[in-house]
Amino acid sequence: MLYIGVDLGTSAVKLLLMDETGKIHNIVSREYPIAFPHPGWSEQNPADWFTQSMEGIKELTRDCNKAQVAGISFGGQMHGLVALDAQDQVIRPAILWNDGRTAKETNYLNEVIGKETLSKYTANIAFAGFTAPKILWMKENEPENFARISKIMLPKDYLAYMLSGIHCTDYSDASGMLLLDVEHKCWSKEMIDICGISKEQLPKLFESYEVVGTLKPEIAAELGLPETVKVIAGAGDNAAAAVGTGTVGEGRCNISLGTSGTIFISSKKFGVDDHNALHSFDHADGSYHLMGCMLSAASCNKWWMDEILKTKEYGEEQKNITKLGENHVFYLPYLMGERSPHNDPKARAIFTGMTMDTTREDMTQAVLEGVAFGLRDSLEVARSLGIKIERTKICGGGAKSPLWKKIIANVMNLKVDIIESEEGPGYGGAILAAVGCGEFVSVEEAAKKLVKVIDTVEPEPELAAKYEERYQQFKKIYPAMKELFQEM
Ligand code: XUL
Repeated sequence: MLYIGVDLGTSAVKLLLMDETGKIHNIVSREYPIAFPHPGWSEQNPADWFTQSMEGIKELTRDCNKAQVAGISFGGQMHGLVALDAQDQVIRPAILWNDGRTAKETNYLNEVIGKETLSKYTANIAFAGFTAPKILWMKENEPENFARISKIMLPKDYLAYMLSGIHCTDYSDASGMLLLDVEHKCWSKEMIDICGISKEQLPKLFESYEVVGTLKPEIAAELGLPETVKVIAGAGDNAAAAVGTGTVGEGRCNISLGTSGTIFISSKKFGVDDHNALHSFDHADGSYHLMGCMLSAASCNKWWMDEILKTKEYGEEQKNITKLGENHVFYLPYLMGERSPHNDPKARAIFTGMTMDTTREDMTQAVLEGVAFGLRDSLEVARSLGIKIERTKICGGGAKSPLWKKIIANVMNLKVDIIESEEGPGYGGAILAAVGCGEFVSVEEAAKKLVKVIDTVEPEPELAAKYEERYQQFKKIYPAMKELFQEM
């Protein structure tokens, strides 16, 4: 049988066709625009997600035996607020995960409702990108739009809804709304009241591998696929990527170097760190995970290459970088503010340490290193909880760079396992579809059978020691700049 995995990303939707042996038959990708209507805001049109996904599915399945397609599932960009009216029309552009407009609402939740209370209700505190502060923002700033809301959903749930007609979400993605009681896997009545919404406006909750419905007849007809194709709930992109990289079970780690950068630690037990510096979310395999999220990771390199150096030759730019561990330039990777661990929408990117002999390569290297240092910040929180991590998987666009993987391995002092398919969320989505269709008894079993490690990048003690010193310096830059960022 064949399974479709949809990775609904921030710059594009990537679709993947997998069979029951895990073999990938086809991959297609379709881009859509992102709007930054004000500095720090970021929005997308859900209709673009749907149109491009439909066209992508058609292209993906053009040459396959369509009768073999059994299921479709998703890994979707998390936290985005999609609001529909009573006629199922999108009320306003979706407010995305990396949008920083809700500083006031986030402060209100953390300071007035209180972090402890939020953590008790949801296992998390408020971050600007989470969905609940966005709902409060809409209530305050667009009351006429707020009054029209009939359904609230997350980005990938909009796709599932358009395909199946079912208003659904899954626990992993719902965890990032700040409306879910993560430990007990139900909507938090208190948070619903705080946001001034009703439970009826929220989607029905599913495990990521559960079937929510089948394709609507008119959608099946348009796609040329059987009406029996099952739509499986899917997961937030990080949980889906974790499934796709085999990061399930106890104490496994995955790093995603996409538009965002995340470090994801799977756990069979529910847990929260003292300061809620890491997100405590449900996992797509039915258990839990901790996660740190940087808002700008591979997007820092993309910005540096596309907008500043004006080149598409990413590999060429990295070819002449040889002085690892000895760069005198530092880069703070906060182009969109920062989530983990600083929780500061006003933080900004900076370069520092340049001298007259600084080269273009030093600057490029600093960008790659700055992202690795930022990820290390979250790893340090996990280490401070006594979590022992020695190795990690890696996925996302940035993981295509051997140099970046070497930098990550040495900055974090972790063995980086390279897997056969680094398609993260798309592969995870297809695996969830296969589990939902009964091909495997559990997500853990599927991941064990399908995900193969083909190589490992080992940290080198001498280089790791050099990076340790550099990291201790990097750590001091944000605190030194923090106050200024608030004024800037
Ligand atoms: C996770 C997060 C990002 C988005 C990116 O909390 O905000 O990783 O999911 O798509």
